[in-house]
Amino acid sequence: MKIIPCPSSPLLARRIAEISGLEIGNAVFRRFPDGELYVRVMEREGVVVGSINSSDDFIALIFALNVLDKAKAVVPYMGYARQDKAFQEGEAVSIKILAEILESKAEEVITVNIHSMDAASYFKNLKNLDAMPLIGKYFADKDVIMISPDKGSLERVKVAAKNAGCEWDYMEKRRIDATTVEITPKSIDVDGRDVVIVDDIISTGGTVEEATKILYSLGARSVTAACVHAVLADNAAIRLFNAGIKDIIATDTIECAFSRISVAELIADSI
Ligand code: R5P
Repeated sequence: MKIIPCPSSPLLARRIAEISGLEIGNAVFRRFPDGELYVRVMEREGVVVGSINSSDDFIALIFALNVLDKAKAVVPYMGYARQDKAFQEGEAVSIKILAEILESKAEEVITVNIHSMDAASYFKNLKNLDAMPLIGKYFADKDVIMISPDKGSLERVKVAAKNAGCEWDYMEKRRIDATTVEITPKSIDVDGRDVVIVDDIISTGGTVEEATKILYSLGARSVTAACVHAVLADNAAIRLFNAGIKDIIATDTIECAFSRISVAELIADSI
């Protein structure tokens, strides 16, 4: 089997190939003048590596998988996973449709920190790898407190903090009265401390921005954001730096300037 890199994950695919000892396969991805995607794969078997951070990413991945007789799909960032139910009547459950299509084209699907267990439940044969230990290890020699911006990421921050060997907490919403909600760290005093906000995804940056403002108001010395998937939509990075974020530390599931931690070994070990 060879590694087939999709345009969304060229560097990560190369790193996976180097670590696993698999060759890079022969494939061409380009666009027709009208913007439509052209995909050609000159292999019969392959591990197609491509994050889904846009609808085009999904089409490129499916087109490549479809050419192969025997294929595995490595989808480091599984987009559309936040639409894991019909929140309103008539909504398409996007991740369910993605799961059905991916599993009809690949014998196995491998991803990293899919957004929710509900999203994972639509797959019959999904390997969901956890990059939180890697995020934790990145901060292992630093004197920090790790904080989840909400209760939903509590289990994630626990894993990261265990690997960093540091304290952890989560932001708790408390209703003071009918119109006032107070958001504070559940129990740790952040005054004078270097804080790392840990989340699975930073998309618009709204969640981290709000948490950052609160942490600074409580006296935090610095606030850094760490996440697996740096979607960073709509100038989110600028928004976060304007809020006083010291740095953004992300993995390479979405390749960008903030990809300081590689999930290549994690993935290579699983294929
Ligand atoms: C929420 O459930 C997730 O864990 C993230 O907190 C959320 O997706 C971040 O989105 P945004 O950056 O748009 O606030």
